[in-house]
Amino acid sequence: MMLFFTLITLLLQFRGLNCQALDANGVSLDEKILAIERLLLTPGTIMFPVTPCSFTLDGPQQTIPAQNGSDQTAAQWVRTVFHDFITADASAGTGGLDASIGFEADRPENLGLVFNAGTPDETSFINATIIGFNLFSSIFISTSDFIALGLATSLLSCEPDARMIQLKVGRIDATVAGPTGVPRPEDSLEIATAAFAKAGLNQTEMIQAVACGHSVGAVHILDQPTVGDGGADHFDSTPFVFDAVGVNEYLNGSGQAGGPLVTTQNKTFRSDLRIFNSDSNATIKAMASSTQSFEDACFTVFEKMINTVPKTVTLSTDLVGPRPWILMESHLDLSSTGAVQYSGNITTKSRFNPSVPTTATYGYGTSGGEDPVSHTSDAGVVQSNLVNGVISDPFGDITQYSFNDTLTNTDITSITVQNSYTESINLNLFVVPSQSFMNPTNVQQPTYVVRVAVLSTLASGETGLQGTLYYAATQPNSVSPVYKQVNIPLTSYKTSGAYTIFHGVVTQPVTAGTSHIDVQLGSQRSAKALVSLFGGRFFGLCSNADMTTC
Ligand SMILES: *[C@@H]1O[C@H](CO)[C@@H](O)[C@H](O)[C@H]1NC(C)=O
Ligand SMILES: *[C@@H]1O[C@H](CO)[C@@H](O)[C@H](O)[C@H]1NC(C)=O
Ligand SMILES: *[C@@H]1O[C@H](CO)[C@@H](O)[C@H](O)[C@H]1NC(C)=O
Ligand SMILES: *[C@@H]1O[C@H](CO)[C@@H](O)[C@H](O)[C@H]1NC(C)=O
Ligand SMILES: *[C@@H]1O[C@H](CO)[C@@H](O)[C@H](O)[C@H]1NC(C)=O
Ligand SMILES: *[C@@H]1O[C@H](CO)[C@@H](O)[C@H](O)[C@H]1NC(C)=O
Ligand SMILES: *[C@@H]1O[C@H](CO)[C@@H](O)[C@H](O)[C@H]1NC(C)=O
Ligand SMILES: *[C@@H]1O[C@H](CO)[C@@H](O)[C@H](O)[C@H]1NC(C)=O
Repeated sequence: MMLFFTLITLLLQFRGLNCQALDANGVSLDEKILAIERLLLTPGTIMFPVTPCSFTLDGPQQTIPAQNGSDQTAAQWVRTVFHDFITADASAGTGGLDASIGFEADRPENLGLVFNAGTPDETSFINATIIGFNLFSSIFISTSDFIALGLATSLLSCEPDARMIQLKVGRIDATVAGPTGVPRPEDSLEIATAAFAKAGLNQTEMIQAVACGHSVGAVHILDQPTVGDGGADHFDSTPFVFDAVGVNEYLNGSGQAGGPLVTTQNKTFRSDLRIFNSDSNATIKAMASSTQSFEDACFTVFEKMINTVPKTVTLSTDLVGPRPWILMESHLDLSSTGAVQYSGNITTKSRFNPSVPTTATYGYGTSGGEDPVSHTSDAGVVQSNLVNGVISDPFGDITQYSFNDTLTNTDITSITVQNSYTESINLNLFVVPSQSFMNPTNVQQPTYVVRVAVLSTLASGETGLQGTLYYAATQPNSVSPVYKQVNIPLTSYKTSGAYTIFHGVVTQPVTAGTSHIDVQLGSQRSAKALVSLFGGRFFGLCSNADMTTC
């Protein structure tokens, strides 16, 4: 009976406060939400490629009047959602947002060059999109979650009120291409309607999806030589604002009059006109009646699209906030005398939270209840919100508060910030960054010296101790990375305070993104340590030469 309760307690600890299933890499849905919130609350990361809305990661920014050789990353990110989603088979429960699009970049139906200034146009918008996401890739965010996040960030940048779409997480990436079937401009209304119906969208939703997607962006004459008036022909007069201008211009014939897929000379290519007119403009008229009705229709249909996933996938019920308070980063460490140090950064946003305090308040929870001592962080530091030369503040000012405590009570199991946000802490076992090291001699295949601390009362030699390195590898036929694991053999090294330190060496086969290490003992799992913590980013205690004394 005692053992049973111990196991339950341990299980609750390693799964965090909300007991959740873990993916193949031991990551919970809560951790996935948190990873995305951390990106959203770090100016200059995931918002960077779409800020401002006209920005492009590749070549010159698009301008009005439109130019050849210019792209709009936000429009590409919106388009990628559509191209991944539309080949879903809703009744079979296959396809949808699963990043299978990564394997389908060469298909004519996924046409869309990226215009690199002056160079031959090399790659598809799909590859450019995923390569953009890869800048921020980690084990916590699948490429298919990034595709959904890309829509959310594009809307945050392009939509005047910077509304956050309801974003769930937990999408799992396909490992092969999916079926063909993206409708093309020259396809009949029957073909388009059937493709949308197969993906689960009825006629109303089809019209909404097309009109919403075409509120930003353009048709490039290089992609569709027979469509448009040359260069990049915008769908509406405000291609850098997500708004109802396009549907109004379509109805009243002003401005771009609905864009090239309504007005182009060759009627075969007037796919938007056929789709919008398919219910005698009733859906478009309802959307055009106000900015609010346009956005409500769009957010609803976009949410349906990003939530269309294979039936084997369970999306989170919780949504990406970002919440008013989170921990941006935190980690445990062990001093040379065996003292446990816990440090990190607390983060808040000022939007809807106008009175941001000078310092943050937090407390620790123990297995026996809340520790009554209240702690105060260092003074908050407002982060620069200048991104690509413009102010990016979809969440208001972002403030970070650092903290650094020596934990004398190994009974601590959680931290609660501002009575608002709680994260679990596992003091039973953890990677020790200041005693770990990355050997930089081969950056492509780095070798890590890993030290982990296990409470001596739990450690009985190496039995059951399992260290794992998680790293990003390349895969054939898609630029999307795939996360793989290597086992780290661990041997007992020395004792330090209440802990036994274990030592292991592991070489990473290939470098294609960020790497993490964790350690498991039976059903216990440590926090995942980012390997860039090793070798001096925070501590710098060890070098290759003094690893044996560290
Ligand atoms: C996209 O990248 C994949 C994987 O490298 C490659 O196989 C494919 O040919 C690329 N397609 C384009 C159009 O660049
Ligand atoms: C499509 O589905 C939506 C949402 O269920 C519904 O409001 C709308 O009336 C439907 N449209 C058609 C043409 O069936
Ligand atoms: C734009 O592209 C078209 C088609 O390639 C070309 O004919 C035209 O000269 C280009 N215009 C500019 C300004 O580069
Ligand atoms: C047509 O729609 C545009 C975009 O909403 C608006 O600016 C313009 O005033 C409208 N024109 C007419 C004649 O209604
Ligand atoms: C319009 O485009 C279609 C498909 O490419 C082509 O068969 C047709 O001849 C074109 N019509 C005209 C009038 O150019
Ligand atoms: C729908 O709107 C388009 C563009 O303004 C117009 O050409 C078409 O005639 C309209 N359809 C109906 C049934 O009024
Ligand atoms: C934590 O915040 C401080 C103060 O803004 C900053 O100097 C430090 O780089 C931050 N650390 C991390 C890991 O974000
Ligand atoms: C935390 O404080 C300890 C003791 O002063 C120090 O050794 C350590 O470097 C600090 N950690 C961070 C991340 O500032």
